[in-house]
Amino acid sequence: MSAPTTTSGQRRARTLRTDRWWLPPLGTALGLSAFVIYGLVRTFMNQWYWAPEQHYLAPFFSPCLSEACVPGASHLGTPFPDLAPWIPPPVFVLPFVLGFRLTCYYYRKAYYRAFWASPPACAVTEPHRRYTGESRMPLILQNSHRYFFYTALLVAAVLTYDTGLAFQGVNGGFGIGLGTLLMVVNVVLLWAYTLSCHSCRHLIGGRIKHFSRHPARYRMWTWVSALNGRHMSLAWASLVSVALVDLYVMLVASGAFPDPRLIN
Ligand code: FES
Repeated sequence: MSAPTTTSGQRRARTLRTDRWWLPPLGTALGLSAFVIYGLVRTFMNQWYWAPEQHYLAPFFSPCLSEACVPGASHLGTPFPDLAPWIPPPVFVLPFVLGFRLTCYYYRKAYYRAFWASPPACAVTEPHRRYTGESRMPLILQNSHRYFFYTALLVAAVLTYDTGLAFQGVNGGFGIGLGTLLMVVNVVLLWAYTLSCHSCRHLIGGRIKHFSRHPARYRMWTWVSALNGRHMSLAWASLVSVALVDLYVMLVASGAFPDPRLIN
């Protein structure tokens, strides 16, 4: 592609940056692609998501709401009927989980840069001639993020419940395995990511004229703001942790890995 020109016809460099500005978008593209491929393979694999002895439910399949779910995996009942074999049980929840991540302000920046070069990086010319922002279809749908935030709260609550159930021993009673600890780390990261959301910050501290008249909201706003400053790190950490816990449960449920028990 030829270099852009100014109005006077002079050739203009695409960027004057001399650092490796293309590394972050490349890393983002690789990381998100790996997650999407894993998620698709895992979802349509449609097995090994429930380890009955250890009471581990894979996060990709939670909550399991269909009669197609394996026995024991439906902690919240089965309001949906049996599904065709090619429809995996996460079909009822996945749109909300994906919707939350896809419309996240951080991920938007990341994948616009990584997959659409819009712009590729700061101070790097983008290849597109027109820029319409998020003011028309389909990108205007990004405004739905605040609603996905509410569904993300529900999903985080369900995964927390699943983690509580993982504190059961293999012979009944109380028990802790390596999987239990991984699930705890995962829900902590998921809650931190969810509560660090910009919509959450606005919900708690927005539309207030005087913080002095709302000390409780101000206090919560400072907590959420501290988390919000780490939103990017939490987005990646929770993405990796949810995939790793899912993989771990798959290995345990399939019998490929014996879950080490701290308390049986
Ligand atoms: Fe990222 Fe809301 S802005 S989750």
